[in-house]
Amino acid sequence: MSDATTHQAGSASQTIPDVLSEHCATASVQPLQTVALCNRSSGFITESSGLEERHTKHIKDYSIRTLEPALTIPKLSRRLNKLVQLASDFNIIWDMGCDHGKTGIALAAHNASREVHCIDCSKHVITRLQSLQLPTNLTTACVDAATVKIHNCKGELVILAGMGSHTANKIIDGILSDTGDYQASFLVSIHRNHDDTVAHLASRYGFSTTQHCEVEEKKKTYRFDLMSPQHGHS
Ligand SMILES: C[S@@+](CC[C@H](N)C(=O)[O-])C[C@H]1O[C@@H](n2cnc3c(N)ncnc32)[C@H](O)[C@@H]1O
Repeated sequence: MSDATTHQAGSASQTIPDVLSEHCATASVQPLQTVALCNRSSGFITESSGLEERHTKHIKDYSIRTLEPALTIPKLSRRLNKLVQLASDFNIIWDMGCDHGKTGIALAAHNASREVHCIDCSKHVITRLQSLQLPTNLTTACVDAATVKIHNCKGELVILAGMGSHTANKIIDGILSDTGDYQASFLVSIHRNHDDTVAHLASRYGFSTTQHCEVEEKKKTYRFDLMSPQHGHS
């Protein structure tokens, strides 16, 4: 991923765009910066909206400081929830074609020692993601997922979900073309021609399904295959 521009989430307070905040759990979303009044003499802190009688000192006796903004924790659909569940045993995760980023954000937020990368070729998608308060163990990159150099180790997972099989197969070929002795696993959930991508990973690269499941949501059936390399195949 030599020319990728990665973004490590910072700690600055950020406003959540409406389009995403409406999908987020309200308890964890903090669209406005919160300030606290800190009494210099006692260290007592109260929110600026606290009771009036608590503010007994002159304003110059208080310092104003910013509280850590809350992380954006997305509310997940049944389909995304299944993706997160199937990915939960992995500690390095690539969410390829991440779009809204909910899968990667949830996985990073659930386990701070996990390394999560949200990849999308759309600048708009990545700019929007970078405007959120993201977990510090999550990076974003605006790049063609087919050019990403994964670590290729056990415990590593590449998620290909919600895209067409043609795109998914090209990403698989790009990732695995320079790689021998495959170690990473793939989690595939393709909206159309799911079987085509499963067959591609199996026949060309020798991966086999270790878990298969289906989820019904809004009268649609989504299929999921967690696929791991067979040892010795390269
Ligand atoms: C329909 S969204 C799927 C979002 C998410 N994975 C999900 O399952 O809900 C497909 C995303 O893949 C991205 N995409 C398509 N081709 C790509 C590629 N070659 N590399 C990176 N991202 C790609 C698109 O920009 C889009 O945001």
